[in-house]
Amino acid sequence: MNGDRVNQIIDAYGGDRTSTLAMLQDIQREYNYLPREALELIARRLELPPGHVYQMATFFKAFSLSPKGEHICKVCLGTACHVKGGAIILEALEREFKVKSGSTTADGKLSVEGVRCLGACALAPIVVVDDEPHGQMSSDTSIKLVQEVVSGQVAKAPAPAEVKPAVVRAAVDLSAVPPAG
Ligand code: FES
Repeated sequence: MNGDRVNQIIDAYGGDRTSTLAMLQDIQREYNYLPREALELIARRLELPPGHVYQMATFFKAFSLSPKGEHICKVCLGTACHVKGGAIILEALEREFKVKSGSTTADGKLSVEGVRCLGACALAPIVVVDDEPHGQMSSDTSIKLVQEVVSGQVAKAPAPAEVKPAVVRAAVDLSAVPPAG
C-alpha cells in the first residue's frame, strides 16, 4: 500500500473526520479493498479510535477488507433477479472462471460475488462488472461480457464520477447499495 496516496486522499478532504466514509470509498476505489494499513493511517491522522474506523469499514457491504481481483463481477441475487435466473448466472460464472462466489481467481484477474438488490429490479437479472451495470443478462451474455473485460477487449469503466449518464446507469444507483447485515 502507498501511504502517500492514502495521505493525499485524507488531505483532499482536509483531514475532516466527517468525511471518513468518503475517504474509505476513495481508498476502496483505488485499491479495490481497504488495506489494514490504510485504516490505521486514517485512524491516526483523524485521531479516531482504530476500532471506530474498522467498524465503518465492516458495516458497509460495498467495502472489502481482503484484496479483490483486477476486475470485479457482481451478480444480483435479490428477489427479482433470483426469479429471473441470477443464481444460475452466478453458478455459470463460477464454473466458467473456476472461482467460488466471494473469492478471486488464482491469477488475481477476477473476483465474483453475489449481492443483494441493486434497486433496478425492472432490468433483472442484473450483472455489474467493474461498477458498470448490465441488465437483462443471461448466463451466456454474462460469460461473454466477463471474458471480454478480463481479456481487455472491453475497457474498464472509469470511476463513477467520470461516467457520462446512460440509461442503465441512471436506473442503477450503486451509491444506494444497502449496508451489510
Ligand atoms: S433484485 Fe436485482 S436489482 Fe432488484
